[in-house]
Amino acid sequence: MACWSGQRQNDMNKDADICRTQWEKLGSWFIGPSAENIDEFCELAIETIKRNGKQQNYFPDDKTYIPAEIKSSKIYKAEMAKLKTELKSLNDALTESIPLASIRYQGHMVSDTILSARLGFLSAWMTNANNVATEVGLVTTQLEIEVGKQLCDLFGFELTNDPRGYITTGGSSANIEALWASRNVKFFPLAVQNAIKNEAELAGEKELSVYIPRLDRKQKILSTSTWDLLNLNLDDVIALHQEIDLLTKNDDIDFAHINKYSLTYNGFVQFFKLHNLTREPVVIASAASHLSWEKAATLLGIGNHHLVCIPFDNKTRMDAVALQKILEECLAKMVPVIAVVCVIGTTEHGAVDPVDAMLNLQAEYRTKNTTGVSLAGEKGPLEITEGLNFYLLADAAWGGYYTTIIRNPPEDDQLLPPFPINDYVRKQLSCLKDVDTVTVDPHKSGYCPYPAGGLCYRNGKMKLSLAFSTDMLQSASYLNTNCFGLEASKPGAASAGVYLAHRVIGLHSSGYGRILGQSVFGAKLFYCAWLTVAKPDDNFVCIPLIPLDEAYEEDLAKQFIRDRILGKSYGDLSLDTEVMHFLSKIGPDLPINAFAVNVKDNTHADRCNRLNLAVLNILSHTDSKISTESDDVLIFLKNTVMNPWTAADDTIQMLLQEFRNVVTQCITEVRDILMSYFVLVTCLKEYEPRWKAFPLRDTMQERTICRMN
Ligand SMILES: Cc1ncc(COP(=O)(O)O)c(C=O)c1O
Repeated sequence: MACWSGQRQNDMNKDADICRTQWEKLGSWFIGPSAENIDEFCELAIETIKRNGKQQNYFPDDKTYIPAEIKSSKIYKAEMAKLKTELKSLNDALTESIPLASIRYQGHMVSDTILSARLGFLSAWMTNANNVATEVGLVTTQLEIEVGKQLCDLFGFELTNDPRGYITTGGSSANIEALWASRNVKFFPLAVQNAIKNEAELAGEKELSVYIPRLDRKQKILSTSTWDLLNLNLDDVIALHQEIDLLTKNDDIDFAHINKYSLTYNGFVQFFKLHNLTREPVVIASAASHLSWEKAATLLGIGNHHLVCIPFDNKTRMDAVALQKILEECLAKMVPVIAVVCVIGTTEHGAVDPVDAMLNLQAEYRTKNTTGVSLAGEKGPLEITEGLNFYLLADAAWGGYYTTIIRNPPEDDQLLPPFPINDYVRKQLSCLKDVDTVTVDPHKSGYCPYPAGGLCYRNGKMKLSLAFSTDMLQSASYLNTNCFGLEASKPGAASAGVYLAHRVIGLHSSGYGRILGQSVFGAKLFYCAWLTVAKPDDNFVCIPLIPLDEAYEEDLAKQFIRDRILGKSYGDLSLDTEVMHFLSKIGPDLPINAFAVNVKDNTHADRCNRLNLAVLNILSHTDSKISTESDDVLIFLKNTVMNPWTAADDTIQMLLQEFRNVVTQCITEVRDILMSYFVLVTCLKEYEPRWKAFPLRDTMQERTICRMN
């Protein structure tokens, strides 16, 4: 696929053709923003319901238990009538639901769901399959395995590591599981060392050795320091785990001899005493990471106080320099780092963290040495500390599917003209192959029905660390069952929906990449719109939180947007290489625009907040009525672009006109309710406690106040 940094190679006529047919493909993939495909959907849905409903008649020659006499009885009829009445009331109530598929909905990370995903879900939902185990989800468990493989393949995980992917109930549970597995793997070597030291049954294992990254050689586990054991490579700990499993199986050694020294058996307090540990472990994540990481740290006994938050830069990406400072501090103080989290598409700003820089730091710190603190009390001599290792967990709950943009389509498929995604994002997506786990949610940018989160392990055997009994390990299909994850029962329908969507649309640039490329295109156009929505003689200003790329002078950029972008057709924009290059350089990494409006020349945060809240309250579908008395926070609005039709001709113009009207009304304190559904508010206050923990104070809040003034 061509890149904007290079010259466009595609023939312009061919591109024009593709731009026209673009909508035809998309048009067949969804029910549509205005329910255009509802008849097609109903026809297929009824066929699907009948087909799978009939399966309930398992032995057609069995007697019928609900014969015609029962069906004609008074009681039966009354019950059916009650069902109809109640169903009607429910259906009536549901008409008040948020119109997520509408082009006017630009709030959360959700839009229309894919037609095939809905039908796949519906077909398996009719069977009520449960993916807890094959016994209750025979077909759908296989579909889950297949989907897991497809997602691991999407990220480019090497097959030699036996990668595994699973469908979870959501991104939060996937994140919790990723950290749970990491925590268990991190501390496992200490349990093995102690068991060999103390258990007679394991006396024959005294020669067992492990690879020490900082020494670049193997050494006996018995003579390895606690610090080194806490800083092994993930794959080596997993290999150790497998070795122990084999040992317990072959030599008939009870796993309990090892397990009794483990963290999972003892809990943190007892484990710390047992192994003479003094430094509590930490997890490191961007201040913009999702709150599920706090939940995970709390649930796993790590404590959210030990979730170290790194500030973000002016593009809201994790600041790699600040991360390095924290790593340096952890190494000097010998604080074990369980994992560093990189977010691919932050919840509030759509930012992509610098995975490449984080991988480089991981490689560097494994072998790095530094002059650390005294380990012999405050006044003792300073020690040289060496080798800090951590696992890298990608939270690509929202952004994972964007990797399809950089995957080539099959030979016989269309090669699309490139969408305006920046080279930085492309690079980070290509680095996901080297991280240890990836959370990726089909129910977010996979456009599948809830509940469908996902977790992919680069090394599938990492899941062994979540096993509760060795019996499970001995089962031939141990990695295929769901005995190991956070969840037990979960709908087989979710996997079936994801499976059908992947089959029909394809995990490549011409499939999902087309939908997601369109949504990035829409977000970039929205960014242009937020930059220019306030005209020079308006009494308000509108500021996107992501500043314009330094390469552009603001007034010239605004003029360029007015002359060459706003009001132009999708086809014209797509074929204008200068415009597409400009769009690829500006705006958010992934399609979330955070922005705020202010009364012109106003310097009071409180007044600015009131204006944004008033706008929110008018544009929200729900009666949210959020309020704040505080003037030490700044409220911003955001629009998440997931609807691929956002970039279609005239759409943004229409939405923008409504937005202008609302802002004008709010400024003059007119409070008529306008039915438009496209802004969600986030209060910066949410971040405040986390910012306070920062060693560096470069906060979005401060920047915003500056920019708004
Ligand atoms: C980056 C990120 N991670 C995790 C989650 C949690 O996902 P879920 O709501 O499916 O639990 C979200 C939700 O918005 C998210 O944006």
